[in-house]
This record gives sequence, C-alpha cells and structure tokens, in this order.
Amino acid sequence: MLDESYIQIAIELAKKGKGKVSPKPLVGALLVKNDKIIGAAYRNTPTEESTELIAIKNSKESTEDAVLYTNIEPCTLEPGDSDCIDLLVQSKIKRVVIGSVNPHPQFGGSAIKKIKKSGIELKIGVLEKECYELNKFYFKQQTTLLPYVTLKMAVTLDGKIADPEGNSKWITSVESRSFVHELRSEYDAVLVGFNTVKIDQPRLTVRLVEGRNPKRLILDADLQMKHNHDLIKNNCDKNLFIITSKKNKTRKKKLNKLDEMGVNIIFASEKKNGKIDLADVMKKLNQRNINSLLVEGGGRVFSDFLKNKIEDEVLIFIGPKFLGSGISLTDNLGVKNLQKAYKYSIRDIDKIGEDALIRLVRR
Ligand SMILES: NC(=O)c1ccc[n+]([C@@H]2O[C@H](COP(=O)([O-])OP(=O)(O)OC[C@H]3O[C@@H](n4cnc5c(N)ncnc54)[C@H](OP(=O)(O)O)[C@@H]3O)[C@@H](O)[C@H]2O)c1
Repeated sequence: MLDESYIQIAIELAKKGKGKVSPKPLVGALLVKNDKIIGAAYRNTPTEESTELIAIKNSKESTEDAVLYTNIEPCTLEPGDSDCIDLLVQSKIKRVVIGSVNPHPQFGGSAIKKIKKSGIELKIGVLEKECYELNKFYFKQQTTLLPYVTLKMAVTLDGKIADPEGNSKWITSVESRSFVHELRSEYDAVLVGFNTVKIDQPRLTVRLVEGRNPKRLILDADLQMKHNHDLIKNNCDKNLFIITSKKNKTRKKKLNKLDEMGVNIIFASEKKNGKIDLADVMKKLNQRNINSLLVEGGGRVFSDFLKNKIEDEVLIFIGPKFLGSGISLTDNLGVKNLQKAYKYSIRDIDKIGEDALIRLVRR
C-alpha cells in the first residue's frame, strides 16, 4: 500500500480520540512491516504516554525494519513529554512517515530534527492538509494561544433563525440536530447568549448521540441568570460558565450564590459600546484550556463574533422553509454596500436529513 493509505488509516484511528484528548492533539500511529500492520494505537486521553510508544509496545512482531506512520510529528519533546525518538532507534524502526509537523513555536520540529540525526529514513507532509484539518483545534491554539471558533447557525431559506414569536424549534431536521450533538461532544465548549437561554431554555448537552458533554458558556453581560434556572439546577458536572462584565465583581451576594451552585464565573472587559469584549473572552478561555468553541447563537451573539472577525469557520444548516418574517441571522453589521459585505468561501456543501449544510471560511 502507498504511504497515503497508511496515513489515512492513522487519521481514522486518531479520530477515535475526538472529544477526549484536548489540550493534546489527536494522534494515530501504525507500525507496518512487509505491508502488514503489526502494531497500532491512538491517543485516548490527554495524559497517557506517547501514542507511538504504545504502538511499539502493542506490536505483535519484532519492530526491526518496520515503518512508523503517524498523522503528527511524534513526541514533541515538550517539557514533561516522554522522548520516544530514542525508543524508535532502540526498536530499529527503519523509516518514519509523518503527516504534519507540530506547529508549536518552541518545540515543533524538534522531534523531526532528532529523527534526521538518528539516521532513520524520514518522510514528512503526507496528506498534510487532511492531517491539519484533523487537528485544527490544536494547531490554532498552539500558534495563536486562542481557541478555534465555529459559529453554528440554523436558518430558514430566507435567513431567519426564529419565527416572529422567537421560536426556533425546530428550523432543521433531527438528522441535523444529531450532527450538532456530535459536534458538541467534540468541542471543548459551547456558547450562547443570555437571550437564547431565556427564550429557548437549551440544555447544551449531548443527548442524541453518545459522547461527553462540553463545557457550557453563557454570555450574560449584566449577570441576569437566575440561580433557579434549569441550566444551573442541572449543573452536576460543574461545567457551566457565566461570562459577565467585570463591573459585576461587586455583586458579592449573587456571585456567592452562583459559586455555591458550582457555576464558574469569567469576568471579561467591556468595550466602549458596553458589549463584552469577545477578544478578551477568547484569551480567558485559552487560559482555562478551552481550545475549541462552538457558538450556537443567537443573532446578536453571531453578529458580534462576525463583526470582531473571531470565527474560524461558519456552519450554516439551512432548513428548506420560508418564514417571511422573524428574527434575522444577523443584526446590523454596519455594511453599507455589497463591496463591503463580509465575504466567505464555501468549503463544503452537504445534504443532511432534509437540510443543506454549508461550511464557510472568511475570504
Ligand atoms: N436558529 C438558530 O441557530 C438559533 C440559535 C440560537 C438562538 N436562536 C434564537 O435567537 C433568539 C435570541 O437571539 P438574540 O439575538 O435575541 O439574543 P442572543 O444573541 O441569544 O443573546 C444576546 C444576549 O447576549 C448578551 N451579550 C453579552 N455579550 C455580548 C456580546 N459581546 N455580543 C452579543 N451579545 C452579548 C447580550 O447582552 P446585552 O444586551 O447586554 O448586549 C444579550 O443579553 C431566540 O429567538 C432564539 O430562539 C436561534
């Protein structure tokens, strides 16, 4: 088989760790000898030892002259990481094939240098784009110290996110909603605005598929969230966060009550227009090891992310319905003419249930 085929298998293996390995990257590793896979492993927790070491330990045969395939540069030699390159040498691995180089500004490339020095044959950049896409959360965090942000929107054909009464259940089909639950199980956190919490009463958990719940973040500039709200009452995992303005630091009684209920509070700066500064929020999320964020609405929150160019991608689920009137996907973006419109490239279009799913990135 070709190197590409084995790296593809490494990618598929690595995907099994989705939602479980953050802040580490997804890793799949294979050992191949005489065109036969003799050992394989994938990262399943952030703390376990190097995936390549596990693949070597799992090997059913002698690893002498075997080829190691991995989607990302092995053990990046960050402080605390075990150095698996020495073991590659001891195991007499003949060749190493790597999908993507680790982008870490300080440690990335260090393992590659060491492999080259050891005399082991090396090939880099096989299915590089696919390997990059697989670890887009990790790569964004490593290079910018900010989380990867996806805006997830459900709209009608005429761009409405809710009917005139504010009801958005359900614009899209159960298949689309199941897919969103799958996304929730992969992202570190989901975020909604306080109005959405008030109107939709969302649970922001994973129910339609198997998977772990993400952290649940509410943008609530004025700290209006009531302590008897269902999101607070059902916060057994203590993964609920309220992001509020710094000016609320003095509201000790309310803050103590929320603290008793296990709610985490993130204080963020306000901008001159009184809105929470989303750039400051992103820095604070990074400090809390939140490396991927799924923003689920509503319209004002989407608009502020777009205006501040904070999103990495936009996922629009389009339910094939017209509403005529209702709540628009975005409020005033301040665009005066088509030349000034926020422009996007379409990455993918899929049909999901009866809906269309469009994946967009900013041009
Ligand atoms: N179809 C969909 O995809 C979808 C998804 C979610 C919700 N919805 C619908 O959307 C409607 C709610 O949307 P909405 O636009 O009224 O409210 P929203 O975007 O859910 O929430 C706005 C709230 O967030 C607060 N906020 C704090 N910081 C903010 C910031 N930097 N930028 C923007 N908001 C910030 C606002 O506070 P301030 O007022 O103090 O600025 C306001 O209370 C509901 O009808 C819901 O059903 C649809």
